[in-house]
Amino acid sequence: MTRTLIVGSGFVGRALAARLRAEGADPVLASRRPPAGTTTSWVPLDAADAGACARVVDQVAPDRLVLVHGPSDVTWCEADPERAVALHTAAAANLTAAAAGRRTVLISTDNVFDGSSPANDENSPTSPANAYGRAKLHAERIIGEAADSTVLRVSLIYGWEPAEAGKWLNFFASCAHRLRRGEPVEAPDDQWTTPVLVEDVATVTAAVLGAGAPALLHLGGPDRISRAAWAEAVADGLGVPRSLVRRVPKAAGRYASRPTNTCLTSDRLESFLAARGLRVRGVAEGVRVLLEAAP
Ligand SMILES: NC(=O)c1ccc[n+]([C@@H]2O[C@H](COP(=O)([O-])OP(=O)(O)OC[C@H]3O[C@@H](n4cnc5c(N)ncnc54)[C@H](OP(=O)(O)O)[C@@H]3O)[C@@H](O)[C@H]2O)c1
Repeated sequence: MTRTLIVGSGFVGRALAARLRAEGADPVLASRRPPAGTTTSWVPLDAADAGACARVVDQVAPDRLVLVHGPSDVTWCEADPERAVALHTAAAANLTAAAAGRRTVLISTDNVFDGSSPANDENSPTSPANAYGRAKLHAERIIGEAADSTVLRVSLIYGWEPAEAGKWLNFFASCAHRLRRGEPVEAPDDQWTTPVLVEDVATVTAAVLGAGAPALLHLGGPDRISRAAWAEAVADGLGVPRSLVRRVPKAAGRYASRPTNTCLTSDRLESFLAARGLRVRGVAEGVRVLLEAAP
């Protein structure tokens, strides 16, 4: 059975583990603290510790690795930019050294672009406008040098996370929990994303771990949508008044350090998906699927 070491046991790492298990593979999660809500095997690891990375790879003996660890909070990175760069750089260097040629996939971000363009494909020049994007770009460069690697840049990822997760929830979950309680949400009408369902990210990442994936691939959903329009779609799905969504300028709130466009496009993705019979769902379908499965 193919064993995958997933470094990062958070929202995305756990979804990937579930997908790999469903495919009959053998995922092992790694992070500093044990994750909640998963029965996947887990090992403790601080990816910034080179010796620990070597020991864990030796102990787990994975066939392939996925780097999907934090810090992932854009606001935290902006407040401590040097630490953000140092952590992502050290983790990428430590894990590629420990991987010693094993297939390695980095989950990166659309924040490597400055957000001035509504569409960024794999040929667009990178130019991060925030510390998070700079940190991830450092990691991308290290992973890109590794022998058998793919950098998978993913746009905003969404799905259910428990309201009490003790972290900044993804945009969909944060809106849906508040709107269900009848509470207002503030959403910028001047910040656009190409959101992707977390289950679709897991499916595509699992495919990227296999043979024939390009060294750089963009994964964005088919819809480019403002956060405000997206929050209104969630309100519609829940049957609560749209007036609970307060349209605000991005500069006024917690999304100030996000680029105007966190959007990804890719012809490469279309052919990659078509060759494997896969597809990535749009916002209307994604919101409907999530609300039907509401916890
Ligand atoms: N969520 C998105 O919309 C999105 C979009 C594009 C790309 N990504 C990328 O996907 C990755 C994960 O995102 P997420 O939403 O799943 O984040 P998350 O829920 O915050 O999970 C991050 C995970 O990384 C672990 N971690 C943090 N520092 C670590 C370290 N030094 N060593 C080992 N593990 C560490 C955390 O656990 P401990 O703190 O216990 O170690 C946690 O399990 C990030 O790299 C992010 O750039 C996310």
